[in-house]
Amino acid sequence: MKANFMQLKIGIIGLGRIGKIHYSHIRHQIPEAEVVMVSDVDKNGLPRDVKHGNAEELIAHPDIDAVVICSPTDTHSAYVEECARRGKHVFCEKPLDLSLARIRETLKVVRQHNIQLMLGFNRRFDANFVKLKTLVDTGKIGDVQLVKITSRDPAPPSVAYLKSSGGLFLDMTIHDFDMARYVMGKEVKEVYAAASVLTGGAVAEAGDIDTAVVTLKFEDDSMAVIDNSRKAVYGYDQRLEVFGSKGMAHVENNKPDSHVYYHEEGVASALPLHFFMDRYTTSYLTEMKAFVRSVQEKQPVPVGGSDGLKAALIAVAAQQSVEKNAPVALAGGE
Ligand SMILES: NC(=O)c1ccc[n+]([C@@H]2O[C@H](COP(=O)([O-])OP(=O)(O)OC[C@H]3O[C@@H](n4cnc5c(N)ncnc54)[C@H](O)[C@@H]3O)[C@@H](O)[C@H]2O)c1
Repeated sequence: MKANFMQLKIGIIGLGRIGKIHYSHIRHQIPEAEVVMVSDVDKNGLPRDVKHGNAEELIAHPDIDAVVICSPTDTHSAYVEECARRGKHVFCEKPLDLSLARIRETLKVVRQHNIQLMLGFNRRFDANFVKLKTLVDTGKIGDVQLVKITSRDPAPPSVAYLKSSGGLFLDMTIHDFDMARYVMGKEVKEVYAAASVLTGGAVAEAGDIDTAVVTLKFEDDSMAVIDNSRKAVYGYDQRLEVFGSKGMAHVENNKPDSHVYYHEEGVASALPLHFFMDRYTTSYLTEMKAFVRSVQEKQPVPVGGSDGLKAALIAVAAQQSVEKNAPVALAGGE
């Protein structure tokens, strides 16, 4: 039983993989908020003990203060704009849209209506990465010269998901672009990317890429290197390293347990946690708590629309770089 004093009244649009995680967190672990209504075009499997309706009804619902948007990417900007017009605050999953022009239009509407808009860059709330960021911010790494990010999924999503996702850079690497900006605290001026299709299957069918190496150059010539794959047979591979004039720090994969088994043929330990739902559970909870708190306290959200635009700018530049097989300077500006 939740206390209803000052609870933020939330509606959730899209109850698929990520929507279910946010739903469960808000319902069971964030007493300061309540799920008033959910909306999904597929009614099968929706929770029975909460109101359902279409997205327009949900956004217009007079009791709803804030909307959590977890529907496919190509629906985000229209829903965010409708929420803004209705004065509803928004937590929107990444990315905001597949088109930079559309993202800019949406951010304009958000500003006009003065709502809070938070982007779902959950990795900023992961305790491991927060620790690295603190080491950087307190000068322990010195002048940071290089960030290395490995980000590999255990298996590609469905063809249908891939087709509406905007491709690897806008769908998956966008988290790494945001992480590079977050850890460095600097802006990217140039992107150089190479990509291939090596896993076949759903990715090839959807006309996407599944393997990429991206180098980013920041405004002070420091760099980041990101490697991605849609298919790592050993699970979700999420590692990060920062290197600078005073030292190096890195984050290894989280595992379900820390045992190490030595035997006559070698040494073995548990595989990494299998996917984002396992690896980043706590970060999803922490980011949603931060959103609820920001709206309730009328404070700026920790990850805003401009972060969404900047990560998307890098993603689009990476795509152009692959097409041209050359470095691409970032246009910059909002
Ligand atoms: N932050 C993260 O780590 C993270 C992880 C996964 C997905 N995402 C993002 O979340 C979004 C959803 O991804 P997912 O993996 O949950 O996808 P999904 O396919 O599992 O779920 C999407 C849900 O939206 C519903 N839907 C489809 N069209 C709709 C519409 N017009 N209105 C309302 N509901 C609609 C579908 O029926 C489905 O239940 C994507 O934008 C994706 O990029 C973010």
